Amino acid sequence: MNQPSSVAEANPLRAYLPRTVAPEPCAVVLFGATGDLTHRKLAPALMRLAVEGQMPSEYAIVGFARRDWDDQQFRSELHNTLKDAKIPDFDQTWPTFAEHVLFCPGTFDDPQAYARLKQILERADQSLGTRGNRLYYLAVAPDFFPTIVEHLGQAGLIYPHHQDAPWSRVVVEKPFGHDLASARQLNRELSRVLSESQTYRIDHYLGKETVQNILALRFANAIFEPIWNRRHVDGVQITVAEEVGMPGGRGAYYDSAGALRDMVQNHMMQLLCLVAMEPPVNLSADAVRNEKVKVLQALPRWTTEQVLANVVKGQYGPGSIQGKPLAGYRQEKGVAPDSKTDTFVALRFTLETWRWAGVPFFLRTGKRLPKRATEIAIQFKKPPTFHFEPDDASLAGANHLVLRIQPNEGASLAFQAKVPGSRRRLQEVRMEFRYGNAFASPPPEAYERLLLDVMLGDPTLFTRIDEVDSAWQFITPILEAWQETRLEPAFYEAGTWGPPEADQLIARDGMRWRRL
Ligand code: BG6
Repeated sequence: MNQPSSVAEANPLRAYLPRTVAPEPCAVVLFGATGDLTHRKLAPALMRLAVEGQMPSEYAIVGFARRDWDDQQFRSELHNTLKDAKIPDFDQTWPTFAEHVLFCPGTFDDPQAYARLKQILERADQSLGTRGNRLYYLAVAPDFFPTIVEHLGQAGLIYPHHQDAPWSRVVVEKPFGHDLASARQLNRELSRVLSESQTYRIDHYLGKETVQNILALRFANAIFEPIWNRRHVDGVQITVAEEVGMPGGRGAYYDSAGALRDMVQNHMMQLLCLVAMEPPVNLSADAVRNEKVKVLQALPRWTTEQVLANVVKGQYGPGSIQGKPLAGYRQEKGVAPDSKTDTFVALRFTLETWRWAGVPFFLRTGKRLPKRATEIAIQFKKPPTFHFEPDDASLAGANHLVLRIQPNEGASLAFQAKVPGSRRRLQEVRMEFRYGNAFASPPPEAYERLLLDVMLGDPTLFTRIDEVDSAWQFITPILEAWQETRLEPAFYEAGTWGPPEADQLIARDGMRWRRL
């Protein structure tokens, strides 16, 4: 087979697209190639990278799955998915991209399938120039992680990293364990074959441009750092609200996970780290992660009583969003009719560090809330005296810095301005940064950035094992307290902002949840 020309060459837009350091040639092996994640996120991200000229000059994409398909069948499956993925110049670029796509049929526990994979990869080294470098992406249920990694090891498909020798890296999707003990067990199993530097635990929130921007805002500007502490901050609210319920038969997975494991242990802990961490000594992977892990280590390790006082567990009942009637969680497909699973969680805690001691952090996340909105709000202290008439007496001059992660990506600083006229009446006004206005292009998809980083061997935006461990040390006592007390969730109507208990939680500190 002739070496295919690059997809980027076929793309007239390439000259306008940003270029980064090119990754080395490699083969990307997708375990779970016929699954939802591959279709929704991974395949579109890989093709976009190719169209943007950011894939290596030589690459292969090898699907691994149970179906008895050949390369052509896998290509036509991907074609069906990608044609609707709004990829620029799709018709023009697809034929070249398709030449890089291969398929390996097999089950995850069959040694022969790995022998077949090895042959396919070695052939790709010859025909597509992938030079022995391998990225294995485990887009499969976590139960399969140890099996796949062990077989890859036995088949000689994982090799220790040596300078200038071919590399092999494994991307592991969440959830990484379902509590502290299982996360440690999983890590022990994986580390029999993989070193930490070969293990890329993905948290797609870290790939979001607006999440990375938190570091830029905090550490590339001198005005925020002096006030980013207990002397000036009254409280921090982090909200990850979702309108969706249980789409596409997700109920069965979710019912064994719940919001605390699905969103708080990973995505929300990462947001917390970036907001609360100390400045890193540089932006290298370990310097950044060293500071993040200290935040997680400063989280409380709660007793059962403390859990019950500081965490609200909620579950949606029937309701409606924008006039559309919606089923309650217990009526969703795959969900037990008497399920106690949390579809909403609100937490209040403090970080006992010199920077943050005493400052309450409030986290809330939920399914079937009125809208999709992720934001971090820093509420600054009120002025020591106040001689004006605020439009909202409860805030009376508190400034807010809001980082909007999604949608309407950007940031705003709310402050008081005098309403024109003879009275001393005030109104809250905002200074706005909107991503869409400030930069010509919308933020790229998180998976594009993260896949590129694995190919480049940059683990900065991936979760290190001590981060996972420390996050579970905080989360596990909550799960255990719920289990021990057989805690029933507090119900909220689908389409509302969670149960009243969440409002009571924040009201204890004289605050209230932001209206989004
Ligand atoms: C996933 C969770 O990790 O993140 C889902 O499993 C959730 O339940 C999703 O819907 C949210 O991601 P995003 O990027 O849409 O905010």
